Amino acid sequence: MSRASSCAAGSCDEIVLFVLFVVKMNWEIAKDYADLSDRAASILLDAITADPKLVLGLPTGSTPVGMYDRVVKECKRSYRCFRDVAAFNLDEYVGIPRDHPGSYFTFMQQHLFSHVDIDAKNTFIPNGRAPDLKVECERYERILKNAGGLGLTFLGLGSNGHIAFNEPGTPFDSRTHVVALTDATRRANSAFFLDQPVPTHAITMGIATILESRAIVLLASGAKKREAIARLRSGDVSADFPASALWNHGNVRVLVDETAAASA
Ligand code: GLP
Repeated sequence: MSRASSCAAGSCDEIVLFVLFVVKMNWEIAKDYADLSDRAASILLDAITADPKLVLGLPTGSTPVGMYDRVVKECKRSYRCFRDVAAFNLDEYVGIPRDHPGSYFTFMQQHLFSHVDIDAKNTFIPNGRAPDLKVECERYERILKNAGGLGLTFLGLGSNGHIAFNEPGTPFDSRTHVVALTDATRRANSAFFLDQPVPTHAITMGIATILESRAIVLLASGAKKREAIARLRSGDVSADFPASALWNHGNVRVLVDETAAASA
């Protein structure tokens, strides 16, 4: 279609803008969770091959577990996989010891760090037991900046649209901060807190911190994410739905399985 032949006066620029808006979020539908995990692991490993000193932003939750499993398997075969990589986790609960079974520190040791050749001094997770949490948030921002900022960040998706622990209503210009978790999020994360209530607060990278990552991959799997994926896909950008901030970024891949991508 040529501009001259297809555009009514005044409408062409809108069409061009609309196309640009749509194509900057790249959607990929995986057949199932196994396929999604394979693809996510390849994205991560290819990025390390391209830049061995990559700075990663890493998520927790059930969704990335398959990706980490595959990455660990691959890295057992390949020498020096993570040797010069730095990893910054997105978030951590406030007030629990780092070796608690529900902490994200424990999660990362179990699923990735203790199985690959990453240097422990290049792994960073907010300290939810710091005496002054505000100072801890500032420290986290500072060390991330000193590391050169995030190169590639993987995100999970909360059913309410949260990314990391940025709950609905979080301003898009937020930096690393302390957040009060919603009841729904606390319920969704209760499986690892059999001995005590799920913490009420967490430290999370802010939305602006995440959006500074040069590339972002959002992962979503299963029927529980269907509504959130449909809402993200609508393109409606609003603080009520934190993941919609990703529309303001120029390099996002959304990797969903068929179940999550089905109409809500
Ligand atoms: C927690 C994490 C998020 C994660 C979300 C989704 O709230 N803080 O970073 O994206 O869970 O978890 P799941 O992948 O288990 O659905």
